[in-house]
Amino acid sequence: MKIGLGSDHNAYEMKEDLKRYIEDLGHEVVDYGSQDNCTEVDYPEVAFEVSDGINRGTLDRAILVCGTGLGMAIAACKVPGIRAVTAHDTYSAERARKSNNAQVLTMGAKVIGIEAAMKVVEMYLQSDFPGGNSARKVQQIMDKELEYLQGTGSNA
Ligand code: RB5
Repeated sequence: MKIGLGSDHNAYEMKEDLKRYIEDLGHEVVDYGSQDNCTEVDYPEVAFEVSDGINRGTLDRAILVCGTGLGMAIAACKVPGIRAVTAHDTYSAERARKSNNAQVLTMGAKVIGIEAAMKVVEMYLQSDFPGGNSARKVQQIMDKELEYLQGTGSNA
């Protein structure tokens, strides 16, 4: 798969380590920065750019890392069509795909060590969305988003 990978300055080292790991798993990585750990990078800018790549179909999945993983997930979820989740354990990473069809996984470099993060990434990348009952629930989320975008939701 083609995997978008991005970080802010707080997670530069984790991003670099994950890049090598994901490539070793046999995937292609598109690196959206950061370029070092001292130049401040605003995580929303990275999250938006990577999310646009998912929506354009140039990326199959994406992994975003910052200090906590939280800001990246919040920002990515603001991009219509994106389902981004923060997961720091393998069970959540598996369910993020199987239940939620999340195209984006986020993690925090100040929360999880690199060895555990690699296991989470591996589980996330090897898990697929089976559809079924989960598809109905994901569709409910996407329908709600569309209502808001069209101004026909409770914001009307
Ligand atoms: C770092 O503490 C934090 O502000 C940033 O990296 C990111 O985690 C925000 O959500």
